[in-house]
Amino acid sequence: MIVTTAQLFEHAYGKYAVGAYNINNAEQIMGLFRGNIASEAPFVIQISKGARSYTNKLMLEHMIRAADQIFSDAVFATHLDHGDEQTCYDCIDSGFYSSVMIDASHEPFDENVAITRRVAERAHAKGLSVEAELGQLGGVEEDVSVDEDQANLTDPKQAAEFIERSGCDSLACAIGTSHGAFKFSGGQGLHFEVIEAIHELVPGFPLVLHGSSSVPQDEVERINAAGGALKGARGVDPAQYLPAAKMGVCKINIDTDGRLVWTRVHREFFRDKPEVFDFRPPGKIYMEEYSNFIASRNELLGSAGHLSEVRAALSGEPAGVS
Ligand code: G3H
Ligand code: 13P
Ligand code: ZN
Repeated sequence: MIVTTAQLFEHAYGKYAVGAYNINNAEQIMGLFRGNIASEAPFVIQISKGARSYTNKLMLEHMIRAADQIFSDAVFATHLDHGDEQTCYDCIDSGFYSSVMIDASHEPFDENVAITRRVAERAHAKGLSVEAELGQLGGVEEDVSVDEDQANLTDPKQAAEFIERSGCDSLACAIGTSHGAFKFSGGQGLHFEVIEAIHELVPGFPLVLHGSSSVPQDEVERINAAGGALKGARGVDPAQYLPAAKMGVCKINIDTDGRLVWTRVHREFFRDKPEVFDFRPPGKIYMEEYSNFIASRNELLGSAGHLSEVRAALSGEPAGVS
């Protein structure tokens, strides 16, 4: 069941974070739905601009609608990840998305407010909600590159003003994370005090964390042992997910970790079976492994086990009644 992102946030707020997972192909979609059903978790399925153009934007939309039929117990929202203004309008008009992210965080403050406000007006008129971003993550976001050193943390006072003026429904805050597999060279240095300060200024307002993959070291070691070269790959400590959720973080974005699972499965498979050229056997292993990974993340996010409550809340019935 595709629901609004606002409905998921309302249920999660202050208790747990909803996992927001990026998808690009059928295997990821199958693993994602299986993992969320197995762990009984609501979730957000995220589609980036790159994912929309990897095959065709309609391919992903239709595959997700098919998954919705196959996994009829699933409760999820469909979200555009890191959209520009035009892509947001395309998604708003498509009738498929629950929410869009307008990422104008690289623009000056007033321009970010103005762009976000325009997108929010168009989105709200059609019942979608809007995630915006203030401050900049380190690493690479689509076409925008920001050096780790110059990562620009969100200013809490500016965040409160931004929310008020832009009309956005959730805010991605920069606290020192970055996209990709190489997040930290030294200590983690995450600034949870930024989240805490924003939470105090705008209690009840949903916050979002990007760049939250944990880059599991066992995955990295297995990839490297099977011919990979991911030296120094490091991610966010996943034990931080739940404390962040208690400070109003409703959505935690995880993409890179899924790519690592894919790489490990396929590198090991073809290393061990060099005579094989069929893509289905490793694809099957990947779907299973990705499903297990998603279930393990949902435990850490605290979203595991909430599915029947969310369904009941959305259909007005007590939990457990079907
Ligand atoms: O924030 C970026 C996400 O990880 C999506 O990555 O643009 O390569 O699809 P992508
Ligand atoms: P990771 O690269 O840490 O998975 O971050 C994903 C993300 O923020 C998607 O918007
Ligand atoms: Zn992101």
